[in-house]
Amino acid sequence: MSVIMIAMPLPFPDSLMAVPHRRDVSFARLTTLGVGGCCRWLFEPETEAQAQAFVRACAREGLDWRVLGGGSNLVVLGDVEVPVLRLRLPRELRRSGPELQATASHGHIQLSAATAELGLSGMEYASGIPGTVGGALHMNAGAYGRELVDVLARYRFLTAGGELVEKAPEPGEFRYRWSVVGDGRVGLGLTLRLAEGDPDRIRAQVAEYRARRGTSQPLGRRNAGCIFKNPPGQSAGRLIDQAGLKGLRVGDAEVSPEHGNFLVNHGQATAAQFAELMALVRDRVKAVHGVDLEPEVEIWAAQDPIIR
Ligand code: EPU
Repeated sequence: MSVIMIAMPLPFPDSLMAVPHRRDVSFARLTTLGVGGCCRWLFEPETEAQAQAFVRACAREGLDWRVLGGGSNLVVLGDVEVPVLRLRLPRELRRSGPELQATASHGHIQLSAATAELGLSGMEYASGIPGTVGGALHMNAGAYGRELVDVLARYRFLTAGGELVEKAPEPGEFRYRWSVVGDGRVGLGLTLRLAEGDPDRIRAQVAEYRARRGTSQPLGRRNAGCIFKNPPGQSAGRLIDQAGLKGLRVGDAEVSPEHGNFLVNHGQATAAQFAELMALVRDRVKAVHGVDLEPEVEIWAAQDPIIR
């Protein structure tokens, strides 16, 4: 594959520029971790039709592009020159019996909270997982042995060519922290299938998960959630902890003393410091345990190619 690197993009076609957009937005404001450079082109469609126009224009022009959700599972390592899509769809919920429909722009924690308020059980596990519904679809977000696909009746997305599809999940489309909604596809929304439950029991379960998270995860510092995937049958956090890496620090980036798989930003951390700390953790876990850790977070490298 030949890749042409261009430092500053030429103006995009009119069909793309017609989509609401902003220029030069700092990734410190677009991600929970708060590092990274500048997002040169942030496209923010407010309707599915505008999102479709974005994808079609990029496909037609052969442009490379990225999708951003809530920025809570993302480490950006520099400036990003390619168009970035961040949906700003209405945050609507529609209930029909035990089914609940949400758009991709809805907050994931807010969706979980809404299900509890409605007395619908099945999404209690998600009460502490930040980001958007679109991000949860993309990552098949999960915790406490449950994940999105367990309660997913249907999902709606744009193909890489901009075609709108709505379908039920099928085997192979959702796995541990991975789904087919990536790789050029854009999640637009979903329908959950939940169970009518006792609101008090649902609330109690949510409170228990929240308490567990509060004691085991560094909720008070900027972070991107778990940085590495759990290797089969193991916990990356425990492996990092056992390698004696908690508290390891590069500048303002630190391996959380509370949970080994969280790297936190003490305020002024840079992308380079995070990259260095991640590499150190991987190398030491490999040396001590002989295990290769794979990133769980999405990583956007600087100098993305503009043209595929
Ligand atoms: N542990 C340690 N030291 C640590 C961290 C953990 O010994 O520094 C031990 C714990 O004591 C426990 C075991 O490791 O016995 C597992 O820890 P925990 O319950 O915190 O779960 P985890 O496997 O580290 C996974 C998910 C989390 C999710 C929790 C709760 C991944 C990579 N992590 O963490 O998801 O919140 O379970 O279900 O799958 C995320 O996706 O960003 C995330 C944080």
